[in-house]
Amino acid sequence: MEFQSCVKIINEWDIVAARQLGRKVSKEIGFGTVDQARITTAISELARNIFLYAGTGEICIEKMVEAGKDGLKIVAKDKGPGIRDVRQVMQDGYTTSGGLGAGLPGVKRLMDTFDLVSSVEEGQQGTIITTQKWVR
Ligand SMILES: Nc1ncnc2c1ncn2[C@@H]1O[C@H](COP(=O)(O)OP(=O)(O)OP(=O)(O)O)[C@@H](O)[C@H]1O
Ligand SMILES: [Mg+2]
Repeated sequence: MEFQSCVKIINEWDIVAARQLGRKVSKEIGFGTVDQARITTAISELARNIFLYAGTGEICIEKMVEAGKDGLKIVAKDKGPGIRDVRQVMQDGYTTSGGLGAGLPGVKRLMDTFDLVSSVEEGQQGTIITTQKWVR
């Protein structure tokens, strides 16, 4: 790990702050403008989900260097109610809020890797989503 920076998601403005941090870091890493837009969109969707479904949480952005490749990792963490059926929420159009249900499947498509770990068990409820993208 070379660099990590986190934004607490407590109110709607924090979604904008997380997005701006993502823009800045992805530019520094050397992503092109299209990939910068993909990354900031992914961050917005994850931050918005935290705000809507968990109330509060955190988005961490990390620079990665592996085998000479540069990349960016986003970790979205919350201690909200958790997700009971992970396969279901990854389907296009699945929503519990009257949204488009496009957020999570969209993030998966925009990034290179996507990992969702969630628990609905009392005392350990919450969701952690880790997603990465490499500079081409
Ligand atoms: N952090 C989270 N904690 C608990 N449930 C979540 C979380 N993120 C997503 N979900 C659940 O997964 C569903 C799908 O999320 P997704 O972002 O794909 O769609 P959406 O938020 O409903 O609509 P859209 O993002 O298109 O506006 C949500 O409706 C919600 O039920
Ligand atoms: Mg969403």
